[in-house]
Amino acid sequence: MKAKITATGAYLPEKILTNFDLEKMVDTSDEWIRQRTGIELRHIAENQPTSELAANAAEDILANSSISASDIDLLLVATVTPDQPLPATAIFVQEEIGAYNAFTFDVNAACSGFMYALSIANAYIVSGMVKNAMVIGAETMSKIIDWSDRSTCVIFGDGAAGVLLEPTEEDEGVLSVVLHSDGRYSDLMRVPAPGSRIPCSKKVIDDRDIYVKMKGNETFKLALRNIVSVSKEALDLAKMDFSDVNWMVSHQANRRIIDGVAKRVNLGEGKAIVTIDRHGNTAAASIPLALDWAVKTGKIKKGDIVLLNSFGASLTWSAAVVRW
Ligand code: ACO
Repeated sequence: MKAKITATGAYLPEKILTNFDLEKMVDTSDEWIRQRTGIELRHIAENQPTSELAANAAEDILANSSISASDIDLLLVATVTPDQPLPATAIFVQEEIGAYNAFTFDVNAACSGFMYALSIANAYIVSGMVKNAMVIGAETMSKIIDWSDRSTCVIFGDGAAGVLLEPTEEDEGVLSVVLHSDGRYSDLMRVPAPGSRIPCSKKVIDDRDIYVKMKGNETFKLALRNIVSVSKEALDLAKMDFSDVNWMVSHQANRRIIDGVAKRVNLGEGKAIVTIDRHGNTAAASIPLALDWAVKTGKIKKGDIVLLNSFGASLTWSAAVVRW
């Protein structure tokens, strides 16, 4: 038994923030952002919680599938921007779409969150514990970004997307998944407060400790190396190599990282799916957003080998090989 992706879906909030808009907010330029990251614009959720974005993506997945909300067995939401600490964002999504027969929970593995959730859903399906699973990556990064910090505010965006997984007896679907994490790098990217380590206070707000802090340059170097190695691990497990890959769908953190990986592994021209130009880095939503775009535009077709890979705070990295 394998788990196959049978539908994808996505949702992006209406408001668009361009690099030129950012030029008016911090000391930056369209040229710097394009050259250093590949980003041209990003979507911003105004007055919308993460669960609303996720629920809209879930409705799109359902519209592209042959099941209805009441058929969903397992509903996972990968996010680092939950609606609130308690309950899980997935609970609100369940209520919003009426998936009352599912059990639901959130997964936090930063930008690798979708991949971690995909691996959990895959394991549940392969074990026979559920007959289907919806996996959504959803973020409102704009709510945890320091809009006065040019080194982070130009990078991130908001959005949600996901997939439906169902069992298959064929040699298709998720062929391999590899996950890694390393807590020794926990200070590379973090939101220090509020939490049990540093509870909420006026001081944490005044010190701007409620926002993302990132050592971008160090993260960049680790990203390149680790994405290449974990992709090779996943391909080895599936008894394939990079020459078998039709499409690479990577976490969209920086165009230079995606291009760097494609070059190092000789992927071949045009095989790396790129959506960062119009989404920015949407953390756990970025891989399913890119995947949904590639499916809906007819790039990914039945039988294609799709390599998914991710990199996130602090530190998580993963890869999966999927036969579409
Ligand atoms: N506009 C203009 N100049 C800027 C900006 C900006 N927005 N931001 C930084 N700079 C300046 C810096 O101050 C620095 O100036 P200096 O040389 O005078 O000191 C210079 O540009 C270079 O800064 P770097 O930080 O070295 O820039 P770099 O080329 O590394 O790009 C970036 C920064 C885009 C953040 C890159 O490091 C990156 O993409 N890192 C990886 C991020 C990532 O993968 N994170 C993990 C996933 S996210 C998650 O898990 C939720």
